[in-house]
Amino acid sequence: MLWEFYTQLSGVLIVSVFCVSGGNIGGTRQEITLSSEGGYGNILVTIEDTVPENLELIDRLKEYFEEASTLLFSATKEQHYFENITIKVPASWTPQPSWQQATAEHTLERARIIIGPPNQAWGDIPYTLQPGLCGQEGDYTHFTPNYLTNLASVRPEKRIVREFAHLKWGLFDEDVPSTDTVSPKFYPKDGTLRPTICVVQNIFGQIIDTSEDNARCTEYNKKTQEYGSGCVFEPIEEITSATASLMYAEHLTSVRTTFFMCMFENLLML
Ligand SMILES: *[C@@H]1O[C@H](CO)[C@@H](O)[C@H](O)[C@H]1NC(C)=O
Repeated sequence: MLWEFYTQLSGVLIVSVFCVSGGNIGGTRQEITLSSEGGYGNILVTIEDTVPENLELIDRLKEYFEEASTLLFSATKEQHYFENITIKVPASWTPQPSWQQATAEHTLERARIIIGPPNQAWGDIPYTLQPGLCGQEGDYTHFTPNYLTNLASVRPEKRIVREFAHLKWGLFDEDVPSTDTVSPKFYPKDGTLRPTICVVQNIFGQIIDTSEDNARCTEYNKKTQEYGSGCVFEPIEEITSATASLMYAEHLTSVRTTFFMCMFENLLML
């Protein structure tokens, strides 16, 4: 038996929950739409089939996305918010009266946000697969059930907005850890290598080699356009006073958490 449900939250974010999947219609991801008012919609969240039934997950997703919507709104100078998300639950979960039947659109292959078990590289840390360059849309964002129900006590909405900036706007973290072998820590520009901190102003720091007692990295491979694998951009907190970037501010106290406005404005000019 299959059922339908729409629930409206704060007059803005609409969360629809779907159960039981339709057929696999192959590789392309669901497009995230933007309304003329600036609302992002049709964000497909798919809970992987291996995730055991847990209705708290749905409550948390609703709650966090609602908070994230408010945050996104202020971070984008009231230009954008989340209008609606669609949650696809595994076929094995007991359908609730308020859910509606999933269609062929609601597949894992089309998901923009995947809720699934931790993987080896990331554990419970949320991440977004960004196969493209800065400014290109990401593939999907991954959260674990454990993160959403147990670990996300410290403002998970910040993380959701941050990951959304990866996903939709192709922004990169400005604090790629040295252990991250996937994300580019530097990018070539004007004949030199810049740390992936996009266009945030007033962040001062140096490039150091974490595998060599934090020695300065001075040389890079001109052919591969890469520094040594241990090299990271390390901000110097004492002289940094930026109004910047959620992509950065999660760990840096001297950066005011007005989010990624600099980058966002830059992106709008592209
Ligand atoms: C979701 O939001 C988009 C705008 O981004 C809108 O076009 C669509 O009608 C909305 N869907 C629902 C179910 O509200």
